[in-house]
Amino acid sequence: MAEQHKLNDHISLIDTHCHVNFPHYSDDRDAMFERMSEAGVDRCIVVAVDLEHVSELRALSEARDNVWFSAGVHPNHEVAKEPTVDELLSLAEHPRCVAIGESGMDFFRNSVEPELQESRFRTHLQAAKACNKPIIVHDRNADEASIRILTDEGADRCGGIMHCFSSDWQTAKQAIDLGFSISFSGNVTFKNNPALREVAAQIPDDLLLIETDSPYLTPVPYRGKRNEPAYVRHIAECIADVRGVSLETLAKQTTANALKRFNIGA
Ligand code: NI
Repeated sequence: MAEQHKLNDHISLIDTHCHVNFPHYSDDRDAMFERMSEAGVDRCIVVAVDLEHVSELRALSEARDNVWFSAGVHPNHEVAKEPTVDELLSLAEHPRCVAIGESGMDFFRNSVEPELQESRFRTHLQAAKACNKPIIVHDRNADEASIRILTDEGADRCGGIMHCFSSDWQTAKQAIDLGFSISFSGNVTFKNNPALREVAAQIPDDLLLIETDSPYLTPVPYRGKRNEPAYVRHIAECIADVRGVSLETLAKQTTANALKRFNIGA
């Protein structure tokens, strides 16, 4: 059973949300992907913040068999022309496009009017339902609005992910009731965030996901530096700890959850 033992020892993680197409990686992108594999992070999903750069995401996914992508416009991204359901659907036809987003509501920055954020979010939800792909939700200081719109649009039909979850248990529970996964990023490791770790401890096994949101929100012990997918391992370790399970168990759960949520063949 030596071989079996070896397989069980292997940690296989998925970074379900990163932006490694950004210029932050133009000098060392290949090395960054190598470090990712060496850390046991076998797959990643590169998430769109606008439609202008989706071709970059698509190219990354076509060049690497462990990269997938999403299509959408960030709630705070100022665009000349709002995306349409048809545009999103045509991008989502690509076999390696596994989600719609990131989309949602952000009352922290408010660089886009709340009304416009809401209509943009609804457009994304309509596209997600039409192509039956999960929606990646960005909710920042906008719990009530995000949950209201998700409920109103019947988002339980496409399902999705509350990405970089930073809210309270009540919001997590409302999203869970819609069948959504809850994804944690580097801020769960921050010293001043015990409440978020408590939420992470309570998420049902089958709805827990992890992500880096690279290049932002770098986890401890690299906080303050540029983030990268390899570091999702530190987020996994932190959450395994608060849930009282081994890293191996946490990795197995979150990877199985991600494959299922994004409909990726193992
Ligand atoms: Ni993001």
